[in-house]
Amino acid sequence: MPPILDVRQYTKRFDMHVLNGKRIHALSNVSFSLEPGELVGLVGTSGSGKSTLMKSIYRTYLATSGAILYQSLRYGPIDLVRATDHQIIALRRDEITYCSQFLSVIPRVPAVDVVAESLFRQGIDRDRGQQQSRDYLDRLGLPQELWDAYPSTFSGGEQQRINVARAIIARPRLLLIDEPTASLDQRTKDVVIDMIVALKAGGTSVLCISHDRYTLDRLADRRIELQDGHVVAASEPVS
Ligand SMILES: Nc1ncnc2c1ncn2[C@@H]1O[C@H](COP(=O)(O)OP(=O)(O)O)[C@@H](O)[C@H]1O
Ligand SMILES: [Mg+2]
Repeated sequence: MPPILDVRQYTKRFDMHVLNGKRIHALSNVSFSLEPGELVGLVGTSGSGKSTLMKSIYRTYLATSGAILYQSLRYGPIDLVRATDHQIIALRRDEITYCSQFLSVIPRVPAVDVVAESLFRQGIDRDRGQQQSRDYLDRLGLPQELWDAYPSTFSGGEQQRINVARAIIARPRLLLIDEPTASLDQRTKDVVIDMIVALKAGGTSVLCISHDRYTLDRLADRRIELQDGHVVAASEPVS
């Protein structure tokens, strides 16, 4: 089977027009691949380019050069660098999910609907979507009185749980997840890790940024390290 994701010589440069045209070389010739059902841990110091790489795969950022081949259910092999916006929108709805480090809060939407949003978009009816959402919120230990409240008022750890739940509830084919356990207590961390393990068992391939040794030890089949926008080390798969 071909890799589900094959990043080839990917380069991303930011041209800062406001700073006298200063250029930031965020990623330089980055190559690596992700096998179906694999979980790769993406590590490296702050500023090394991890989030930029993830946002490039999700096509929040456009490439300077290179290719990102993805094996889509719907389109077959597709280069995410060159895919049309229409294709990217469909892939984000049905196959690829990005979970950022922080929750971008949607105003005046209660937690239960924020989490169920991807299910609603896929056409699942309201009652069933909310039921599944409550089940996730319950397992993540979010107090029941918060389920119908607006996440904009939640604490960092509560928002993070909402963020993770909404990213994984629809069981994406490819999950890009940035620091899923950073501000969680040990018990909740274990719940999140168990949820990602279950997702993986169902066939989801995962790229996971984490600084947390415990999380990586439990989850990662392999690690890739970035330094100043270059891949400096990639460990062999643990068999
Ligand atoms: N939108 C952006 N505009 C300009 N520079 C950016 C942008 N996003 C990231 N960078 C720069 O790219 C480099 C890598 O950042 P980032 O990918 O966030 O690192 P990491 O996630 O590993 O901490 C940094 O120098 C950062 O300042
Ligand atoms: Mg980052």
